[in-house]
Amino acid sequence: MKALITAGGHGTRLRPITHTQNKHLIPIANKPILNYALEYVRDAGIREVGIITNQEGDEVKEVYGNGKALGLKIIYIPQERPSGLADCVRIAEPFIGTEPFVFYLGDNIIVGGIRRFIEEFEKNQTNCHLVLAKVPDPERFGVPEIKGNRIVNIVEKPKKPLSDFAVTGIYIYDHTIFEAVNNIKPSARGELEISDAHQYLLNKGYKVTFSEITGWWKDTGKPSDLLEANRLVLDNISTVIEGKVDRNSRISGRVVIAQGAEIVNSNIRGPVIIGAGAKISNAYIGPYSSIDKNCEISNAEIEFSIVSCNCIIRNQKIRIEASLLGKNVQIIESQAKPFTNRFIIGDQSLIEIR
Ligand code: TTP
Repeated sequence: MKALITAGGHGTRLRPITHTQNKHLIPIANKPILNYALEYVRDAGIREVGIITNQEGDEVKEVYGNGKALGLKIIYIPQERPSGLADCVRIAEPFIGTEPFVFYLGDNIIVGGIRRFIEEFEKNQTNCHLVLAKVPDPERFGVPEIKGNRIVNIVEKPKKPLSDFAVTGIYIYDHTIFEAVNNIKPSARGELEISDAHQYLLNKGYKVTFSEITGWWKDTGKPSDLLEANRLVLDNISTVIEGKVDRNSRISGRVVIAQGAEIVNSNIRGPVIIGAGAKISNAYIGPYSSIDKNCEISNAEIEFSIVSCNCIIRNQKIRIEASLLGKNVQIIESQAKPFTNRFIIGDQSLIEIR
């Protein structure tokens, strides 16, 4: 079995961060989102992986190369423009050949990995195995209509959902999916929809089966989804303190402090992860915060936030919560007189001031 993982798309909901960075490289607990997908497929015993990339695909390639460091053999499949998930499958046919494969959306995070779904696919000898999750807002997803224990229809983003299930970003197919993606037409929004490919399989009488995720699954499209995913991953960490913590600091709860990090006169209340080379002084870092490599945080309070690498936060009066900071961001005390706020901010940034 092979794996096809998406890392293309527009990432519009995560602007401005995605103006300068592929969304799949945004860190969750100090690891790019895409790492999780790659680890799930590896842990399910898959070695050959194709990654769909967009026009800025070099960034992803630079991070993962040929995949050897992760125990994988990775190739990259560039998508000319984001033309839909069924288009991702269509362009991957030369890589997949006739083997069954897992199609995994690289921005999805799931507890417990994907091995159990592959086992279901194999046990059921099916053409297509979908992974469903109950969600409060099915109208945002592909939604199945289920009768008895069978899916009878699938509608993409329906106005009136016929169930409270979403088709998540984990699919397992045999080669019949290529017949489907080569026979459907683009939708009104101009994309080849994966839900239309699934409906094609149903209409043609191919076997479509499903599993339900009962645990935690998240599709990380929006900043709040990333914070939730970060919370979930941090909830499962164990304490490892390799960096330096001085005597005036207090560490409580589960905390990871990487080698080369330094904590001075600060209060760290887990679950928290602090990356290599980060320096935290006279600060409070509260639950569900990820502080990535080489950040410098002093005289500030941070809670329930993701701070990407090389950020500087230095301000007596600041308390940051539920925030997502990209790389190299600086939030520092103004030295100007008279006292004033000064901003140099990229397009589509969001600043909320008390
Ligand atoms: P989406 O989250 O549906 O789309 P997006 O990433 O473009 O984000 P936004 O809606 O905020 O603009 O994409 C799901 C996954 O599929 C994600 O990993 C990106 C990837 N993708 C592609 O690789 N190619 C595509 O043509 C599309 C539509 C998505």
